[in-house]
Amino acid sequence: MITVRRVEVEETYALRAKVLRNGGPPEAARVPGDDDPEVATYAALDADGGVIGCVGLFPEPCPDLPDHPGRGWRIRGMATEDGRRGQGIGAKVLGAALEHVVEHGGGLVWCNARTPAARFYERAGFQVVGEPWDDPEIGPHVRMWRAV
Ligand SMILES: CC(C)(COP(=O)(O)OP(=O)(O)OC[C@H]1O[C@@H](n2cnc3c(N)ncnc32)[C@H](O)[C@@H]1OP(=O)(O)O)[C@@H](O)C(=O)NCCC(=O)NCCS
Repeated sequence: MITVRRVEVEETYALRAKVLRNGGPPEAARVPGDDDPEVATYAALDADGGVIGCVGLFPEPCPDLPDHPGRGWRIRGMATEDGRRGQGIGAKVLGAALEHVVEHGGGLVWCNARTPAARFYERAGFQVVGEPWDDPEIGPHVRMWRAV
């Protein structure tokens, strides 16, 4: 059985590093602002308590939509364990993050999406804003957002 709940960000570093930092050490997964008490991290845990999915929510305005009413929340560190993808785990974890935003008054949720993940975000109601760009280390990206 899989459960989704809020966790300490450190609990997700190993998965984040493995999936998003090319298998680097857990410290490589740290991002600025992780220790902000307003940052919220959600994870999917398997029956043994292992973290198999994660996402972080950071209070931060969307650079492309500065006049949008409501608070801006940036999604970072969205990852599902390789081998467990395509089973709805990412959707559940992202859903918990969107619920967190609802509980905190709603607003605008956005992310710099890796192009291969754009369809995943589209299915969760996100749309593209601005022009795509290429991150020399990570690859092509597109910014996506949705109101919550
Ligand atoms: C993007 C990601 C978090 C989605 O998690 P997930 O648990 O597979 O999500 P779900 O099962 O809810 O949805 C699957 C959808 O994700 C997308 N997807 C992207 N990469 C995928 C992959 N390698 N395997 C399966 N689905 C993938 C597909 O659009 C798929 O939709 P489909 O079922 O219509 O084909 C996950 O694929 C992942 O960790 N990818 C690598 C890291 C990454 O790109 N993170 C996002 C950074 S912005």
